[in-house]
Amino acid sequence: MIIAIDGPAGAGKGTIAKGIARHYNLAHLETGLLYRALAFKVFENKLNLDDRDQIAALASTISLDDLKNKHLRSEEIGNLASKVASLSEVRQALLDFQRNFADTPLSDFNGAILDGRDIGTLVCPQADIKFYITAELEVRAQRRLKELQDRGIKSIYTAVIQNMMDRDLRDESRQQAPLKIANDAYVIDTSNLSPDDALKQAITVIEQHLKTQIR
Ligand code: C5P
Repeated sequence: MIIAIDGPAGAGKGTIAKGIARHYNLAHLETGLLYRALAFKVFENKLNLDDRDQIAALASTISLDDLKNKHLRSEEIGNLASKVASLSEVRQALLDFQRNFADTPLSDFNGAILDGRDIGTLVCPQADIKFYITAELEVRAQRRLKELQDRGIKSIYTAVIQNMMDRDLRDESRQQAPLKIANDAYVIDTSNLSPDDALKQAITVIEQHLKTQIR
């Protein structure tokens, strides 16, 4: 079973993906971390966005181990990630990584679940089930603010919401694999849902899908 989950930052797709992965024993890849890991390397190597060949070369070196880096979840790295994510060479290099993950899940798992921005539309268009997880901007910004504060990072709401709007705009308007709802995706708006209720909704959809497969 391959499940694709897309949506903007702070919508709750990561939490839902983790819950589904646990419930169905699926290998989970949070694809945003690939772009974040690359952004971290770009920053470390003091490259700028015009160094496209060097950035593309770095993209092809990203491994699962790079995703364990504790510094990847900062706002700065998230911003830089959305900038490197607009480079076509980068998307091509990371596409192979993601498809390989989806096509060859480790034998202990029943399949794979990938979450990101273009999973249902481009990375795994043949996914068995696709979700698009969304929530109102203000709700997403509040969640992100809380997450940052919980990690001891001082932040202010107006900066967080502005950052989110910039990133949404960049992700939705880029030429390469923009964030959009796949035609066959189930949309879940988590604005008024608890994480548990959002997960339950997603599992109900999967169960219905599995029933139709058995018939
Ligand atoms: O999901 P997360 O916020 O960690 O992603 C960081 C950035 O990586 C996003 O803003 C987006 O620009 C990029 N990204 C992408 N395609 C994906 C996953 C993330 O372009 N599949």
